[in-house]
Amino acid sequence: MKHLLSAADLDRDAAVHVLDTAAQMAATQAREIKKLPTLRGKTVVNLFFEDSTRTRISFETAAKRLSADVINFSAKGSSVSKGESLKDTALTLQAMGADAVVVRHHASGAPHRLAHAGWVGSSVINAGDGTHQHPTQALLDAFTIRRHLAGTDADREGIGRDLAGLHVAIVGDVLHSRVARSNVQLLHTLGARVTLVAPPTLVPVGAHAWPCAIGYHLDEVLDQQPDAVMMLRVQRERMGSGGAGATGFFPSPLEYTRAYGLDARRLAMLPEHAIVMHPGPMNRGLEISADAADSPRAVIVEQVSNGVAVRMAVLYLLLAKEKETWA
Ligand code: NCD
Repeated sequence: MKHLLSAADLDRDAAVHVLDTAAQMAATQAREIKKLPTLRGKTVVNLFFEDSTRTRISFETAAKRLSADVINFSAKGSSVSKGESLKDTALTLQAMGADAVVVRHHASGAPHRLAHAGWVGSSVINAGDGTHQHPTQALLDAFTIRRHLAGTDADREGIGRDLAGLHVAIVGDVLHSRVARSNVQLLHTLGARVTLVAPPTLVPVGAHAWPCAIGYHLDEVLDQQPDAVMMLRVQRERMGSGGAGATGFFPSPLEYTRAYGLDARRLAMLPEHAIVMHPGPMNRGLEISADAADSPRAVIVEQVSNGVAVRMAVLYLLLAKEKETWA
């Protein structure tokens, strides 16, 4: 495999292989010296056309821990703001000899175009495109769920290494969420059962054909005792502005919070072992209350550190070809 563009690129075995490799990477990160020589001499370019904190820093850290050279390229302050096209940017990167390009773009499909237009010879990793896909986020979420809730007994091949039998609720602004789309796909591949919970206005057309259930009432879904609850950010920047915090998608922030916010009361409905997730950045007080975000069952900060291990695994599997093959 050369590129990682979508969660759909991974079948069960490939996904489990990434998670197992990430577990090995995570183990090296507990050591005093965290740096591995694996990608010495390789160049990873972070090409970010859209804002990002966690994902960009996470890819940068992952590449550096593997001893790759890292070039950070953000659209602001570059010739992209002068109107340079994706193609010309790609040709520049190619001329610099990038081995992998990690791309985040506001247009769904941009990473696919970059990978398949013949402009660059490097591997392309999708770090989030429009409302389409964010495969490494889904992988780090699956890794986090597996760490907490599934056995990882590698001696018993295939048992406890995926997420079979677990129930994950994904709650909130599904319409604008590439995180939700990638997670539905990957969690299904790994054998988990997924329920999306959102107001009807934030459920995409066509979602009924996805491999998941859809609910419109959060309390009813929490009554089903899900093992993990993944809260999604309300993506106001993709909603247009109705002024005073209003959007065309729900009546008011307060009503959204009442119907779909995770708070202490709803947290108490969950089974003892259940975990609370959020990809970040959070709107505290909107989709998640401070006490839910800071509760002992929230694994939100852990998701961030697991992101580094998962991205190390992806970079390793795509770039260290002579040592290992990936699917
Ligand atoms: C997500 C993204 O950018 O899609 N964040 C992230 O990668 N950590 C989700 C979001 O922005 O709400």
